[in-house]
Amino acid sequence: SLLPVVLAGGAGSRLWPLSRQLYPKQFLSLDGGLTMLQKTLGRLDGLDTQAPIVICNEEHRFLVAEQLRQIDVCDSQLLLEPVGRNTAPAIALAALAATQDGEDPLLLVLAADHLVEDIAPFHDSIKKAQSLAELDYLVTFGVVPTSPETGYGYIHQGASLEPGFSVRRFVEKPDAVTAAGYVESGEYLWNSGMFLFRASRYLEEIAHFYPDMLHACHQAMAQIKKDLDFTRIDKDAFAQCEDISVDYAVMEKTQHAAVVPLSARWSDLGAWSSIWELSDKCEAGNSYHGDVIQEDTRNTMLRSESRLVAAIGLEDLVIIETKDAVLVADRHKTQDVKKIVERLKSEG
Ligand code: GDD
Ligand code: MG
Repeated sequence: SLLPVVLAGGAGSRLWPLSRQLYPKQFLSLDGGLTMLQKTLGRLDGLDTQAPIVICNEEHRFLVAEQLRQIDVCDSQLLLEPVGRNTAPAIALAALAATQDGEDPLLLVLAADHLVEDIAPFHDSIKKAQSLAELDYLVTFGVVPTSPETGYGYIHQGASLEPGFSVRRFVEKPDAVTAAGYVESGEYLWNSGMFLFRASRYLEEIAHFYPDMLHACHQAMAQIKKDLDFTRIDKDAFAQCEDISVDYAVMEKTQHAAVVPLSARWSDLGAWSSIWELSDKCEAGNSYHGDVIQEDTRNTMLRSESRLVAAIGLEDLVIIETKDAVLVADRHKTQDVKKIVERLKSEG
């Protein structure tokens, strides 16, 4: 069976001002129902999985514990990172935790902030990936690209490797021109950001490419502190890890990648533009949330949390109102919200 590892430690900074340091997007509901984290776990119902590992920043421990309790997930292991070092070290910690008692499970690594609309094909892809992971591949889930997104990884699909394909090359977040070329070629898939591999397989890759990281993670795990249902990772040791994502650290470098196609209406609600794409829109292409009103406005996202928002004569904008901050952005540039958040952070 599979051991789900849910990565819930990101800042979600591109969804500012809704997503905040104290409340990143994976803990929010974008449609008024379950939160993104809760949906991530709920989506596994019907698969043969073990109790999940959820790994997040320690400042979010009560938020996570409460959200899991609400959906009756009581047996999960909560790994708490004292500092964020991105996904490569986070997955290494999970892999070490999963192999501590001599087991070597298949890890199903999931982001906590994706949308997957068709569950049956999603499960079907996971089962296919499982058969390749059992052969010791690091399996990615590839989505047919619909636009030259620069926020995704791209997978150059290789020869058939039943029930998937080999990977000729993995390129994380190419620039716009490169991405456009990839999409046009028809030979590339988007990396969905979910992975399936044996814990030991991943640890071997880290040992090979980032031995210091593995050492730091070992040290950090050797000094864990159990506190209620939480497993606290040692800060001094973990802070030594390089800050790098699994995509750059492992997927771009490994010789052992495979890809299984995923056509389950997947999307990463990473930026406001992707939320606009997916939302219900009026005939003029506007999406509405909360107390908003418009005249002569097209292809615009209007979202209000606390005040009435009125728009006149606008096109291709994203307007996000919250109590203490308002974002007005070109709909095609919402990836850059990250830059604003970085500036706000550094300028205090
Ligand atoms: N525990 C933990 N610790 N989780 C983290 C950390 C961390 O330091 N950093 C990020 N995460 C979580 C995020 O909360 C999210 O659920 C997931 O890991 C992916 O991180 P993102 O920061 O959202 O990555 P991305 O969207 O830029 O890129 C990844 O996903 C794309 C598809 O959504 C890559 O895998 C791309 O190749 C991929 O296309
Ligand atoms: Mg993401």
